[in-house]
Amino acid sequence: MNKVYIAMSADVLHQGHINIINEGKKYGDVIIGLLTDKAIASYKRLPILSYDERKVIFENLKGVTEVVPQNTLDYSENLNAIKPDYVVHGDDWRSGVQKIVRENVINTLSKWGGKLIEVPYTKDVSCTEMEKKVREFSNTPDNRRAKLRRMLELKPYVNVMEASNGLTGLICENTKYIDEEKGVEREFDGMWVSSLCDSSFKGKPDIELVDLTSRINTIEEIMEVTTKPIILDGDTGGKTEHFAYNVKTLERLGVSAIIIEDKTGLKQNSLFGTEAKQVLDDPQAFAAKIRAGKTAQVTKDFLIFARIEALIAGYGIDEAIKRAKIYIEEGGADGIMIHSKEKDGAEIKEFLRRFREYSKDIPVILVPTSYNQFTEEELAGWGANIIIHANHMLRSAYPAMKKCAESVLEHHRSKEASEQYCIGIKEVLALIPGTKA
Ligand code: SPV
Ligand code: MG
Repeated sequence: MNKVYIAMSADVLHQGHINIINEGKKYGDVIIGLLTDKAIASYKRLPILSYDERKVIFENLKGVTEVVPQNTLDYSENLNAIKPDYVVHGDDWRSGVQKIVRENVINTLSKWGGKLIEVPYTKDVSCTEMEKKVREFSNTPDNRRAKLRRMLELKPYVNVMEASNGLTGLICENTKYIDEEKGVEREFDGMWVSSLCDSSFKGKPDIELVDLTSRINTIEEIMEVTTKPIILDGDTGGKTEHFAYNVKTLERLGVSAIIIEDKTGLKQNSLFGTEAKQVLDDPQAFAAKIRAGKTAQVTKDFLIFARIEALIAGYGIDEAIKRAKIYIEEGGADGIMIHSKEKDGAEIKEFLRRFREYSKDIPVILVPTSYNQFTEEELAGWGANIIIHANHMLRSAYPAMKKCAESVLEHHRSKEASEQYCIGIKEVLALIPGTKA
């Protein structure tokens, strides 16, 4: 019998997949190369169903002889091992992001005279649209909360963008960049609800003046229109007793993680560095606060990260490492965030080198606002697991709005501003999914 190899992720199964399997059956025994969760996460969002769940479905499909894991988007490893006579795929991959994968398949098959068979793409079925719908239906607090922990397990690193209201949330949710060269579609994994931006959009200083009730309103606004996991900037976490209570509230909402920083007194934004009075908390007291949160949480998925401000306050790397160990060992923190406002990134790189000698896998979060010359891949190479672009929606929106306001004042009318700085009303209406003309 000839061997027919068909790679699939098939999170949402539809008649298009069945057509391909039926076509494959005509040529021989069908082996499904089922993309693992890691392989799927490498080029698009996390699968809705896990590998094991998808495997059971495929094993029970008529016409499937065997299901094997495919560990990467690229087929080479499995093709070289199985040496199939045929690979079957829909013809939709001739253009777009999958073009490169297709070329590699053809080259690999040619080594033993294998053939690629392309089946006409099943019209009227959009996997992306179906997956989007399922994601919306399954957007429960439990599901959303668990996403960050899953991402940490499955992705080389997690990239997060600031979201401070429904609209910026939608941008984080829907913005995509197609990297034709690498054959991948890039998007943000999650959202950061920043204290700086949540306060600034309200015209208020970042000194814990905007209280948790108001922060929760922001979170709810974002949650109503998005499905990606949320990391909350929890400032200092407030009083230990209050923190324990608030952790439960956030869990209930479906927030995935909170980061609290080891400062005390009137909190000042870290990017002031030592220009502002930055008072560090006693490390044991802060560890106790983290511990109170960890003890209070009721789900296994919620994460509490300890943010170390020793570098911001000018106490150096030794102090930062010492605190990291206390927060992890005494507080039970799920990970740490190390912050720095130095532009060259040197102290962050050195901190990570030393921290990774201490622990290979405890998650570390970076906020590279000051050292933004480094790519996410470079920072992940230093040992970072989550990279937060903490304030870029606010900082890009503000100058655009200010220029527009100045133009109206200059010209005594809005014509020039509309033409130069504004999108059309139709585009505004189209911003919001589901808006009907
Ligand atoms: C925030 O975004 O509010 C932060 C990060 O806490 S920073 O502003 O860099 O301190
Ligand atoms: Mg903050």
